[in-house]
Parts: sequence; structure tokens; C-alpha cells
Amino acid sequence: MIKFDLEKIKGLEKIYRLNLINSCTGYKSANLIGSIDEEGKTNLAIFSSITHLGSDPAMIGFVLRPRTVPRNTYNNIFKNKYFTVNHVFEKDIADAHHTSAKYPKEVSEFDVTKLEPEFLDGFEAPFVKSSKVKFACKYLNEYDIKENNTVLVVAAIQTLYVDEKSIHEDGWIQLDKAGTVTINGLDGYAKTSLLNRFEYARPKK
Ligand SMILES: Cc1cc2nc3c(=O)[nH]c(=O)nc-3n(C[C@H](O)[C@H](O)[C@H](O)COP(=O)(O)O)c2cc1C
Repeated sequence: MIKFDLEKIKGLEKIYRLNLINSCTGYKSANLIGSIDEEGKTNLAIFSSITHLGSDPAMIGFVLRPRTVPRNTYNNIFKNKYFTVNHVFEKDIADAHHTSAKYPKEVSEFDVTKLEPEFLDGFEAPFVKSSKVKFACKYLNEYDIKENNTVLVVAAIQTLYVDEKSIHEDGWIQLDKAGTVTINGLDGYAKTSLLNRFEYARPKK
């Protein structure tokens, strides 16, 4: 094993440290956040920090990087309160990654990629048409993580859309069937294959 102690981590070259620390916590969720501004301009950006916070009420959270540069997704969500979360579909990884490029707010990532916007059931923010698992969200709150100037945004799931071929009778979504990918570090995208599912675990007698 290669050992990285705190001193070694601090002394690493910047990009090496970025890659190392971004991959060491394991695979991350791959989602595109769709949002819209007051003038109706759509925005799309990739986020790997979206995570489950609770199922009743259905809530998610994500970590926003420091607001030292314009953050279009955050500004739109803060003003409008509504946004969408769309799983990255395996055929879309290059375009999904490209949404992380710093386009000005006047440019919609839907116009510079092959990703198509879709408006569902009157919800104001755009969904990604090709995504097989996607949901509408309402901003609830945010919490400053003062140690590194990031923000935890907390939101409620309002409406969820799941491709019928990937959902099981008990509500479990089989993500590999939906073509959902996962993120390795900051720029690696991977397909998954299910190994097994288990019963609710109880202590051995
Ligand atoms: C794989 C990947 C994951 C990312 N995850 C996040 C994230 O969780 N939080 C974040 O603030 N930015 C994240 N980013 C960066 C945003 O995608 C990037 O800042 C983007 O330009 C934001 O667009 P916006 O200004 O339109 O909101 C990620 C970038 C990549 C490539």
C-alpha cells in the first residue's frame, strides 16, 4: 500500500491531490441539475455530490463549491426555488461532463451539447429528455460549511419519474438497467453491474 499522511497530502502537487482526494471516498452519484432563470434561460450542470437525506419526507442534498465565481445553478435555484435532478445516462457522458465548462449565464448548456430539455407536467425547470431516472425538486434550505466555504443545499423531492423497465415490484430502482453511470473522482465515468441484493440485516443469533 502507498501511504499518504497529512504532511504528504498537503505537499502534493495540486492536480495530483485533487484527483487523489476526489477518488478516495469511492464512487459518486452522477446527476445533471436543470434550472431556469427569471428570463426563462435554461441551465444544466453536472454534480457528483447529490445524496439521499431522507425518504419521509423525500429529501436530497448537494454540496455547492465556494461562490468565488458565478454559480448559475445556485443563483437560479436560490431565486426560483425549483430545479430538476437527472441521472446521467451512459450514452451522454461526454456531453454531461461538458456541462461543467464555465459558460456565462446567457449560454444554455442545452444549446452547446446534444442533451435535450424536456418540460414535464408544467414544472418550470427543464429535465433531461434522455435521462431514465429524474425528479423535480424544491429548495428548502442551505447550510454554510464554514471550514471550506462550501454550502449544503437541502431540497424536497416533488415528483419522480422512473423508466418502467428499471423499477422492481418493491419500488427498488435497478440503476444499471436504467443506464445510470457513476463518477470515479472528478473526470472518470463508469458503468456498474449489480452483484446481489440482500434481506434487511439482523444480528446473528
Ligand atoms: C464530475 C463533476 C462533478 C461535479 N460536482 C460538483 C458538485 O457536486 N458541486 C459543485 O458545486 N460543482 C460540481 N462540479 C462543477 C460544476 O459542474 C461546474 O462548476 C459548473 O460550471 C457549474 O455550472 P453553473 O455555473 O451553470 O451552475 C462538478 C464537475 C464535474 C466535472
